[in-house]
Amino acid sequence: MRPNGIVIAIDGPAGVGKSTVGKLVASRLGYRFISTGKMYRALAWKALETGLSLEDDGKLVALARSLAWAFPRSSGPEADVSLDGRVLALELSEERVSRASSAIAKLPGVRLFMKDMQRRAGLDGGVVMEGRDIGTNVFPDAELKVYLDASPEARARRRVGQLEAQGMPADYAEILDFIIKRDAQDSGRENNPLRRADDAHYLDSTAMPREKVVDAIVALFGASGK
Ligand code: DC
Repeated sequence: MRPNGIVIAIDGPAGVGKSTVGKLVASRLGYRFISTGKMYRALAWKALETGLSLEDDGKLVALARSLAWAFPRSSGPEADVSLDGRVLALELSEERVSRASSAIAKLPGVRLFMKDMQRRAGLDGGVVMEGRDIGTNVFPDAELKVYLDASPEARARRRVGQLEAQGMPADYAEILDFIIKRDAQDSGRENNPLRRADDAHYLDSTAMPREKVVDAIVALFGASGK
């Protein structure tokens, strides 16, 4: 038993709504929410800032080790990522940071560093952790695992909707192409590729409203009896 509750692992491809759904589930349960993608993004951002090669695993791990990582909670269930006392927010959603994070996520040393840090962050339970390899690699012992999926087209349409709602330009074909490339990179890599854990519940949200997905996960939590 973990002191604060169970670990809920949510994995799935980019743009499937893991963060939105995970935060809502965490709110309903009084749990913390941790996006592990933000940790990869934070290291990628720092590497770009310092001009480090995105292919040098050893130097990236040394950089990661030299930083003071913290995951403070400001408002709501989500943990922020803070590096050396600076909370990172908008920087992490930059396009160049998305690309760089996907590139460094291929490297075995970087992945091991992240796994150790992510395990420590979630070990006491009471946490919804979202990523690509949480149920398969970081918390194979998670008490509840969900694999959230949706077609690339549905994910691209949602992204266009989000961007338009923010008054930003959005090109459906370009976004769809980007999503398909990210999927290939995340699933095709050698180290801890995106895949469904054998004991993960599969939820296809292509034709499912967000609230229904949240209800389904909360119901699985209830049924898990933990
Ligand atoms: O979920 P995201 O888009 O914020 O993730 C950024 C990148 O990090 C993504 O390309 C895949 C990678 N990632 C990963 O390899 N493993 C995780 N657990 C989380 C993210």
